[in-house]
Amino acid sequence: MAEEMRLVLRNYGKIDPANIDDYIKVGGYQALAKARSMSQADVIEEVKKSGLRGRGGAGFNCGLKWNFAYQAQADQKYIIANADEGEPGTYKDRLIMEGDPHSLLEGMAIAGYAVGATKGYIYCRGEYPYIVELLRQAVVQAKAKGVLGDFDIEVRMGAGAYVCGEETALIESIEGNRGEPRYKPPFPPTAGLWGKPTIVNNVETLASIPVIIEKGADWYKSIGAPSYPGTKIFTLTGDVANKTFCEVPTNTTIREIIYGFGGGVVGGKFKAVQIGGTSGAFIPESLLDTPADFDSMSAVGATLGSGAVFVLNDTRDIVDTVKCIAKFFEHESCGKCTPCREGTMRMYELMKKINDGKGTKQDLALMEKLAGVMSIACLCGLGQAAPTPVVTTLKHFRADYDAKVS
Ligand SMILES: Cc1cc2nc3c(=O)[nH]c(=O)nc-3n(C[C@H](O)[C@H](O)[C@H](O)COP(=O)(O)O)c2cc1C
Ligand code: SF4
Repeated sequence: MAEEMRLVLRNYGKIDPANIDDYIKVGGYQALAKARSMSQADVIEEVKKSGLRGRGGAGFNCGLKWNFAYQAQADQKYIIANADEGEPGTYKDRLIMEGDPHSLLEGMAIAGYAVGATKGYIYCRGEYPYIVELLRQAVVQAKAKGVLGDFDIEVRMGAGAYVCGEETALIESIEGNRGEPRYKPPFPPTAGLWGKPTIVNNVETLASIPVIIEKGADWYKSIGAPSYPGTKIFTLTGDVANKTFCEVPTNTTIREIIYGFGGGVVGGKFKAVQIGGTSGAFIPESLLDTPADFDSMSAVGATLGSGAVFVLNDTRDIVDTVKCIAKFFEHESCGKCTPCREGTMRMYELMKKINDGKGTKQDLALMEKLAGVMSIACLCGLGQAAPTPVVTTLKHFRADYDAKVS
């Protein structure tokens, strides 16, 4: 059986998250001191060499992103920790922040030193008010100890919009505007918060940094899948025996996660698993031996996304499930661009019609066409990925649709 490897969650359940001394006792803030003894370019090179790729969904090389902001000339630069975590079924960032908030602060301060930023923001999901308090307390303690040096961190609370997890919508929200995505380019590392170079990284990405600086890029790169090294936290929901979480090397297969850590399927036989959150692909039994790393998932037409693992047994109605997901996207579309504002609404209408037994084969073809348009014409990832559950269930579970249409 696959084994857990806790790097990001190394202190989870072992230290008092509300006490900085506990973190310091287990070596906390030593990586920041080590980073500060290196040149900025060397820190970035080490992170680049480690192969760490963003854990927020897009899988971009972290060191490369930092380098863009480092190279940019500006009087102020920013680091933003994306802790919006609005993806249903995902709670990995919550685990990090509630179990070991200083690992996030330390990762942010290292990023700040590397790119030349003196100000950081944590944009925390609105449904996590107790974590906002814990983070604010952690910042106060870190400042009192002087460990952050000239790096300042402010904690902001989101207000419940899924789209505010998109990095430019998040930036708009911090600026006090409506949380709507921006046109790109320019990308945040060159022009982000208030037009200044800004690094937006996921909490899991930033919390991976201290251990990389401490143990070195070569060590980190030797763990998991070569093209997406390190560990990944997965959160299991749905028809699994253990609705739990695990942190595993990235070459662990989906089957090992569901059957090893999840304890297998309950209430029926395995039907499907949706990986990566609400916008993720549904995959069938035949693909369960795919390693849960970014590129292996892409190769089978799926996305790793946030690492949410939503299991369905064979008593579940997959068409009805996808209809509910389509409703979610219709609700969460911010309305800024037409293909998503109209497309998510039409997609839901079609899914409802089909699920109610009133659809035709032409409706299925129309949905596929609409999905194709949305995936290329929508402004941000919300609209681009919204059709994925429809497309992948049409591909792998076509019989379930055929049984409902005339
Ligand atoms: C609709 C939408 C929601 C998103 N929500 C989140 C989120 O909750 N947390 C997150 O880290 N990234 C989220 N992202 C991805 C971010 O835009 C961005 O790619 C990420 O924060 C970059 O960090 P990383 O490079 O460390 O992965 C979302 C993207 C989209 C399109
Ligand atoms: S794709 Fe959807 S969520 Fe994104 S900008 Fe367009 S309307 Fe808004």
